[in-house]
Amino acid sequence: ITGSGAGSKVTATLPSGESIEVLLYGATVISWKSNGGKTENLWLSEKAAVDGSKAVRGGIPVVFPVFGPPPKSGHPTSSLPQHGFARSSRWEFLGKSTSEDALDSSSVKLDFGLYTSGISEDAKKAWPLDFGLVYSVTLSKDSLQTVINVRNEGEQSFEFQFLLHTYFKIKDITKTSVKGLLGVEYIDKVLNASSHQESNSAIAITGEVDRVYKSIPQDTTTIVEADSPRFDVVRDNLSDTVVWNPWIEKAKGMGDFSPDDGYKNMICVEVGAVNGWQKLEKGEVFEGGQTIKSLL
Ligand code: BG6
Repeated sequence: ITGSGAGSKVTATLPSGESIEVLLYGATVISWKSNGGKTENLWLSEKAAVDGSKAVRGGIPVVFPVFGPPPKSGHPTSSLPQHGFARSSRWEFLGKSTSEDALDSSSVKLDFGLYTSGISEDAKKAWPLDFGLVYSVTLSKDSLQTVINVRNEGEQSFEFQFLLHTYFKIKDITKTSVKGLLGVEYIDKVLNASSHQESNSAIAITGEVDRVYKSIPQDTTTIVEADSPRFDVVRDNLSDTVVWNPWIEKAKGMGDFSPDDGYKNMICVEVGAVNGWQKLEKGEVFEGGQTIKSLL
């Protein structure tokens, strides 16, 4: 652990040079370098708060227990902030484990925990339920795996949504497309939350995009740059994926989004369980996550 207080972070490096940096605040992965440490794969705003003062604009924020603005009223998450409290709570570092096989197959796993006792009084009041989250971040030579384990530690059942809000770093949004969603139903948040079915095998980004793809049959979504696959995003026990790019005006409107034209160098492909709710009875556990492969 380096740094202190809310700005503390955990870093790990493989013998072959690949590395990750994870802030305890939000358990937010803020850097993932592959290709021997030469290629940064995650976009991080130049004005992202990395001191624990607010949710990080970039990297991989963890969204729990509600995605987006919570239901207006009548749901246990209704008084929570947008995207819940996990991304703005300080997590505990639970430890590091390494496997050192051959140089090419070594990996390092960092575990983080967040429990009812670790969230703010406001969050506890808004969502008075007993839970335990363990988030495991595993770095291998060409991939990063991030997996959540949600446990109901209380007597009462609860419902939640979960999402990994990954900001991928790309060279040029006008040459980027997203593959693997053909035929999938989605909610278009830019077009008044209307429902559509994806008719493109490669989705080009030519303006603001904010779509929730639901119940996706195929496991892998691929980010393609200049006709070459750049990232494979493989879902595990998560059936939905959000594709988001704020484009010019929305990017300018976000105080922590910098530079203004940074929208050209990022795309969010966010795996999650956000269509309806996951329910856990007393003692039950949910596990889900992603493996991202950097294909450079
Ligand atoms: C995406 C949502 O997941 O997150 C968008 O679909 C939202 O609607 C975006 O604008 C960023 O959210 P925030 O709270 O980090 O500004």
